[in-house]
Amino acid sequence: MKLSEKLAALEEDEKVADSATTTNPSSVTKRKSNGNGARARGGDAWEATKRKVRELVLDEVAPKMTGLSGTKLNEEVKNALDRILQREDVSVSPLERRKFVQEMIADTLGYGPLDTLLQDATITEIMCNNYDDIWIERGGLIERTEMSFTDDAQYRQVIDKIVSAVGRRVDEASPMVDARLPDGSRVNAIIPPLAIHGSVLTIRKFSADPYTAKDLINFGTYTLDLVTVMEACVRARLNILVSGGTGTGKTTNLNVLSSFIPDGERVITIEDSAELQLQQPHVINLEARPANAEGQGEVKIRDLVKNALRMRPDRIIVGECRSGEALDMLQAMNTGHEGSMTTVHSNSPRDALSRLETMVLMAGFDLPVKAIREQIAAAIDIIIHVDRLPEGRRVVTAVSEVQGLEGETILLQEIYKFRFVPGTERGKPSGELVATGLRPKFMDKLAEREIEVPASAFRSPAPLRPNSNASVVRRKVRVPEPGEIAERERLR
Ligand SMILES: Nc1ncnc2c1ncn2[C@@H]1O[C@H](COP(=O)(O)OP(=O)(O)OP(=O)(O)O)[C@@H](O)[C@H]1O
Ligand SMILES: [Mg+2]
Repeated sequence: MKLSEKLAALEEDEKVADSATTTNPSSVTKRKSNGNGARARGGDAWEATKRKVRELVLDEVAPKMTGLSGTKLNEEVKNALDRILQREDVSVSPLERRKFVQEMIADTLGYGPLDTLLQDATITEIMCNNYDDIWIERGGLIERTEMSFTDDAQYRQVIDKIVSAVGRRVDEASPMVDARLPDGSRVNAIIPPLAIHGSVLTIRKFSADPYTAKDLINFGTYTLDLVTVMEACVRARLNILVSGGTGTGKTTNLNVLSSFIPDGERVITIEDSAELQLQQPHVINLEARPANAEGQGEVKIRDLVKNALRMRPDRIIVGECRSGEALDMLQAMNTGHEGSMTTVHSNSPRDALSRLETMVLMAGFDLPVKAIREQIAAAIDIIIHVDRLPEGRRVVTAVSEVQGLEGETILLQEIYKFRFVPGTERGKPSGELVATGLRPKFMDKLAEREIEVPASAFRSPAPLRPNSNASVVRRKVRVPEPGEIAERERLR
């Protein structure tokens, strides 16, 4: 049977299947395709053609694949494709042929439709909920794409390819797995039966060009005053906790804060999945390891923190505290490794403290609550809280100073807070980070180290007038001139 005949038969089968689902809607168990007009119109035939051609290409190339890599493999696949497209009666118009060949190469050698999304620098996150249901995050907002894998089999092949590249596998025995793409992007895959409606793949794209303090000012995440203060705090070796919800930018903030660490210091970073990209010359990156298929060989963040203490660190940076390592981290911060930083998943600075408390209890020591709070109050100097606004912008919504312990309560003082301003940005409420007007106690520590911060950085702005005209209010962010931050650095 020629390919065109096979395709006609396939289309016929699909029509029969479609009419069966329309007459019996209850039999629809999964949302079909993505509702996109273009794809719905010609999509099925296109995908079916791709499926068939892919099988033929693989049949031809697979025997020769061992030993081939990179450009050679690419050439081999292209040649096989040419032969098949000439030999078989494939209904692809000359105009569509180039796109078809590109998609086929991506399907055979790359990650299928993910390749295009991975190459698009404006996309920061890729979320596949099913083979034909792919979402992305761009500019802080989630949107659905028209992309689709050919079928579930191809989707699973891509997942297998990603996880096997880092020596792991995803199957019934280990249905959820963390992995990494060759470019460093963080990947999580979870398959049925844990994921009820199909395999789910989530990719946090790694930015080859990480955000700097200046970028965060441009995005409206930081104000120039905040950068000045945070830079001073990092240089003065205050211990900093970045708190925030999932995907709000904790790691990005940690990276930016780390960029203020002076060059001469020995910094050890500890992460589950290496994401931090410090630019200093003396940085050691450690990465935790999950257990292998036999349940052995696990190295936890906690083990790495303990080990790091024997490596003569000046500062320790832990990507995220999730459990018992919080205790080791607090101890490190209290015993000569001031200037350390970490992040914690939480809804507010106050919540971050209770989360830390719970984590310390997870270390397995039966410590009284007061003792834990004493440790926390002595160790943490500043909590910087990040959030994502409804319009997609990621912002610092609070900077709080830990001022000690009164009775059994940890004293928290807000230095900067977020206030909503009248008017909207892209149709959503807008706001800005403002000083509360209070002079933080850490100013004494800065003075001891002869680090100056202008008093104006803590001056609270005039209160907003309640009757101000909503439509004309604009958020004002002073963006530093090129080289301004570097100039300050040079002067120092
Ligand atoms: N201030 C910002 N402005 C715009 N995009 C940002 C900002 N901060 C982070 N991002 C982007 O948001 C995404 C999530 O950032 P990040 O990994 O830092 O978040 P996270 O809070 O550490 O997430 P998780 O909880 O999953 O570890 C990334 O793609 C990053 O590039
Ligand atoms: Mg993170």
